[in-house]
Amino acid sequence: MEYYAEIAAIKKKLKGEGSYYFHLGKGDVDRKYFPTPKCLLEKVKAALDLQYYKYSHPLGRTDTRNLLAFYHNLLTGGNHYSSNNVALLISATSGLNAVVNVLKEKVKLKKALVTRPSYINYRYVFEKFGVDLVKVDSTRENNFNVGCDEVISVLKSDKEVKLVVLCNPNFPFGRFMEKDCFKDILNYCEKNDIFLLLDNVFETSAFKNTDMGKYMTADYYSPNIIRIYNYSKDLGVAGFRIGYLLTNEWINEAMSDEIDVTYGSPQTVFEPFIDCNTLLRILSAFGTESYIRAVD
Ligand SMILES: Cc1ncc(COP(=O)(O)O)c(C=O)c1O
Repeated sequence: MEYYAEIAAIKKKLKGEGSYYFHLGKGDVDRKYFPTPKCLLEKVKAALDLQYYKYSHPLGRTDTRNLLAFYHNLLTGGNHYSSNNVALLISATSGLNAVVNVLKEKVKLKKALVTRPSYINYRYVFEKFGVDLVKVDSTRENNFNVGCDEVISVLKSDKEVKLVVLCNPNFPFGRFMEKDCFKDILNYCEKNDIFLLLDNVFETSAFKNTDMGKYMTADYYSPNIIRIYNYSKDLGVAGFRIGYLLTNEWINEAMSDEIDVTYGSPQTVFEPFIDCNTLLRILSAFGTESYIRAVD
């Protein structure tokens, strides 16, 4: 509350001075440029017609989670995931809440590192759970790129940091991390039992150039990586507030035990939407053979 009051006062002051400001909170995407595919919306309508709105498994329907696991196995080129690693979410933010809650309880998480600027709600979630945030700021001088060496040097100097949150491309500048930088941070995390939470919610909708392979991190598997995805941005459905989490089995299981009484189970009516989108992604990225295996 204090923070909101502070921001409101700054905004009022700037307005009074005739200055402009950019509000960098959560944002809807422009559906003119990111139209929601009609075939996916049809799935939601059909789900309603079929009265597809009974209670679900706390982490979402197993078939839907299996399909997402299959897709990420294709992306990461291994048999790393099953439905036990996937949780459907009411929003990426609720996934972050769940992860922080579980890490606080299970590994007594005290400190997490975030690179800034970033999605403002990270701060509230960590504050809510009493986890201290260690911040590494991007600056105008480094063109608002993540300072990889700085991240690692902060981790070396503060051994209590057991979670690193990276947003790639970052919010709000859309800067992609170079893969080498990502790999250095990941290596350090793996060697030092640090979780790496990747919030790449803009990864597939960000402007792509011919060098995109240099930046995409979706093909990396590590037991230390926790991935958060949502459909809000990519598919222009921010109001649906749906997404999913890819994590290890014990975090997933701990979430499953709590989710009914904390963040709520995902909405069943969106499961056919998620299934269809995943199948389309498999078809476009991996071709017919993989698609047929996925449908099987
Ligand atoms: C980087 C980033 N992560 C997560 C979110 C939250 O997504 P959701 O609407 O699924 O809670 C946002 C929303 O603006 C965001 O910008």
